[in-house]
Amino acid sequence: MQKDTAGNKQSALQAKQIRKRFGSGHAAKEVIGGLSLTVADGEFVSIVGPSGSGKTTLFKIIGGLEPPTEGDIWIGGEQTTGERGHISYVPQQSALLPWRTVAGNIELSLTISGAGRQEAKQKTKEWLEKIGLHEYADDYPHVLSGGMLQRVSFLRALLAPQQLMLLDEPFGALDALTRLQMQQWLLSIWEESRRSVLLVTHSIEEALFLSDRVIVLSASPAVVLQEFVIPFERPRREALWTDIAFNEMKQHIYELLK
Ligand SMILES: Nc1ncnc2c1ncn2[C@@H]1O[C@H](COP(=O)(O)OP(=O)(O)OP(=O)(O)O)[C@@H](O)[C@H]1O
Ligand SMILES: [Mg+2]
Repeated sequence: MQKDTAGNKQSALQAKQIRKRFGSGHAAKEVIGGLSLTVADGEFVSIVGPSGSGKTTLFKIIGGLEPPTEGDIWIGGEQTTGERGHISYVPQQSALLPWRTVAGNIELSLTISGAGRQEAKQKTKEWLEKIGLHEYADDYPHVLSGGMLQRVSFLRALLAPQQLMLLDEPFGALDALTRLQMQQWLLSIWEESRRSVLLVTHSIEEALFLSDRVIVLSASPAVVLQEFVIPFERPRREALWTDIAFNEMKQHIYELLK
């Protein structure tokens, strides 16, 4: 693994000039067209962009599941292009192990992070109480609702040892009210842990409500159209949704995406 000597230690993530082509010759299709972005340590960054612009592909490149055609990925100041295991990932559909109980899924994350068995059991109990799911500890994932599943998926990612979390449309499948509750829940947990987060969402409001910075992508081949620093103080309040500055930013991003 190559070390970054250029003083970039503060970055949880740097994607440098990422280009991705699928196929070759006449069938070649460029999906990502020279895209650079960073996530600072402890920063919450959201990506919004048109459907099919290459966001999931970018996540796969960051997570080492797909090689970039050009460019490289640095995580925590180390060049990690093409390497797995450096991020924790919450996919769009929850990916809990169906043959393990809810508690079993969480214990596994803790054990992978180095906790002993007794410690993992104890911590799992505490966390399930914190997220209001202690009654479901011994149930299997299929009995949980969509919102509950996403809470467990998110918790599992949070307890994983990696400092950088990637969330790909984690609330996309939820109804509006549950989604709002989940956003608030996510923020309250994130405020405590201050992990570095990169989140993909189709909701401009969600991006503005959650993030320190919002990155707007073009249609494919994706490049960064514009970045917005979100100035609203934390902890964020629900009242923000009716704030004038909030709605001006929302309109501005909407125009960009049109
Ligand atoms: N393995 C692959 N081979 C060929 N084309 C691919 C492959 N994976 C993705 N693509 C193409 O790359 C483009 C971007 O896909 P991607 O899933 O990254 O988009 P997205 O921005 O995540 O879209 P959405 O917002 O709908 O989830 C699409 O046109 C898709 O068909
Ligand atoms: Mg996608």
